[in-house]
This record gives sequence, structure tokens and C-alpha cells, in this order.
Amino acid sequence: MRDAALSDDLLAWYDAHAREMPWRVGPAARAAGTRPDPYRVWLSEVMLQQTTVAAVGAYFRRFTALWPDVHALAGAEDAQVMGEWAGLGYYARARNLLKCARTVSRELDGRFPDTREGLLRLPGVGPYTASAVAAIAFDRAEAVVDGNVERVMARLHDVRDPLPGAKPRLAALAAGHTPARRPGDYAQAVMDLGATICTPRRPACGICPWMGPCAARAEGVAAELPRKAPKRAKPVRHGVAYLVRRPDGAWLLETRAPRGLLGGMQGWPGSDWAEVVPDHAPPLEAAWQDLGEVRHTFTHFHLRLSLRGAVSQAAPARGRFVPAEAFRPSDLPTLMRKAYDLARGPLGG
Ligand code: ADE
Repeated sequence: MRDAALSDDLLAWYDAHAREMPWRVGPAARAAGTRPDPYRVWLSEVMLQQTTVAAVGAYFRRFTALWPDVHALAGAEDAQVMGEWAGLGYYARARNLLKCARTVSRELDGRFPDTREGLLRLPGVGPYTASAVAAIAFDRAEAVVDGNVERVMARLHDVRDPLPGAKPRLAALAAGHTPARRPGDYAQAVMDLGATICTPRRPACGICPWMGPCAARAEGVAAELPRKAPKRAKPVRHGVAYLVRRPDGAWLLETRAPRGLLGGMQGWPGSDWAEVVPDHAPPLEAAWQDLGEVRHTFTHFHLRLSLRGAVSQAAPARGRFVPAEAFRPSDLPTLMRKAYDLARGPLGG
């Protein structure tokens, strides 16, 4: 089938079945001339990396209510942005988000560049985000390749080499299909197809607009693709965290170093994390109570964090007491939130 016919079929499907999303200008509105707001497209695409559409919705609404445009976000306090990002994970994204907003607001008069190359020059904008914003916000014919698109391409072309090695080939195939007509709708259509029909486990091939040309479907192997190279088992790391509650209800927290895991986020003072718990000192002298263990999985390792708790008003060697009325558990990254949930009862919180 000619490529134009392939993309036409997908666009016709998208016209009927596009998912509604808070950041999306749907196909009918686009056809009527509504242009997407590049700020909202950029913000949503940064949030959607490594995160599901379902998880992003509430965060996107909250961010755009607090900061409706790039100037507003550029003027926000770092700590507030990090707090609002808490729970979404991959916190380097939030730090880069702010850097990028400040560049666009202060150096570009609030206007996002309208090409992939221009977008790539912004801090924290990588190839995926640059292509997605160029295509969706500015209707540039850029291929947008996420995990959904890789799966769709692997099946359409019956690519049997495993991921991640197959990535360049799948990206080249995706680029080959990207049409000059309606590239913004097309980019979102392929992602929607992957998310709703060409799903990982049980693809709904019977209702797929690309059923006819799909090579993996013809061979009966769609559900088995893409293949994946076996993953290395994740190592386990260990650490200790100290949860201190003052008799007046304040909690001892610290802001983590800007770089590294959970960088810039609020957390409980504690040890580094390593194969065995590294040498460290508690933040203050106290009769520590054992509060159990929290388990949490990061991209490259599993963490077992032993919790020690105390009620104390001694002066801490690190961190600062956050008064009860200023403490917002929702500002904590998920790991630290899990620790709080375990500790608050025993410490009377
Ligand atoms: N996943 C990431 N970005 C998306 C988008 N714009 N539409 C659908 N799914 C997506």
C-alpha cells in the first residue's frame, strides 16, 4: 500500500476515535482552525515521558491552573514546582521543565521555537519532546516515536529483532510513514492506535485500521512483537532514613541535593543508598525506634529503606523542622511518602 493511503486510513480512524485529553486539540477543532497552545503541548509531552496518560491528567490540570502560560511557570518558585511534580517520578524532568520555561519566557519572549532543530536547543528538550512539539503544536512533518509507536511499527513491518537494538530501524520506519498532510494529527493518531488497539498483550486486530497491511497480523505473530532482549536483574540497594517529629507536630525534612536521584525534592534525612548501608550519622541524638522498611523500585535498582523514628525537639545537625501547618505530604516523592505513611502512626502524626 502507498504510504499516503496508509496515513489516510489512520487519519480517518483518528477522526472518528481520537481520545479526548485535556491538552489535546482534537481533529474536528483542528480542522476548524484551532491551533494548539505550544506551552500546553510541551508541558504535556514532558509529563507523558515514562508516565501514562491516566496518571498525567490530574497533574496537567493542576499545573495549568497554577501556571496558565510559560511566563507564569518561569516565575514560579522551584520548591513549589518540585512539590507539585511529586509523585510523577523522574524528577530531573521537573528541574529541566523550569529551566526551559525560564529560557522561553526570558530569552524568547514566551514563544517556543516552531521547528525540531529550534526546540532541540532548549534546555532539557531531547529528540522525543522536540519532535512531539514540532509535530503537534506546529504541524511539522516530524516522526514522533514512543513505545507505542515502536510496537505499531514492529507489527506493521513484522520486525523480529529485539528491542532496544531494533530502535533505529523502527524509528526509520516511523519516519517513512509520517505524512506531509496533517502531521500533528497523524503523530497523535499512531500513539492512540498503539494505546487503544495495537496494545501490548491482546491487540484488537479485528478493528484496526491497519489490519490489511499489517505484516505481523498476516503471519499470526502480532501479539508476540516487539521482541525484547532479556533485561538484567536489578540490584538491591539498602539505606536508612530518619523520621523525626517534634512534639508540636513539625517534621524534620531536608531538600535533597539538586543532582542525583530525587534531586531537589523534599525527603527524610538518612544514609546514602548502596549494596550495604553506608556509614552515616543520624540527624540528631535520640532513642531511635525501628519503624520497619519501605521498598521502592527505581529505574536501575530496588531500594530497601529501613526507617528509624523519634519524637524529639533537639537541634538537628541537618535538615529543618517544617511546622505541621506548612507540611504537605503530597509534596513528597513517592518513596518518601511511603515512609511517612509508615511512620506517622507510631510517631503520633
Ligand atoms: N503519549 C505521549 N504523547 C501523546 C499524545 N500526544 N497523544 C497520545 N498519546 C501520547
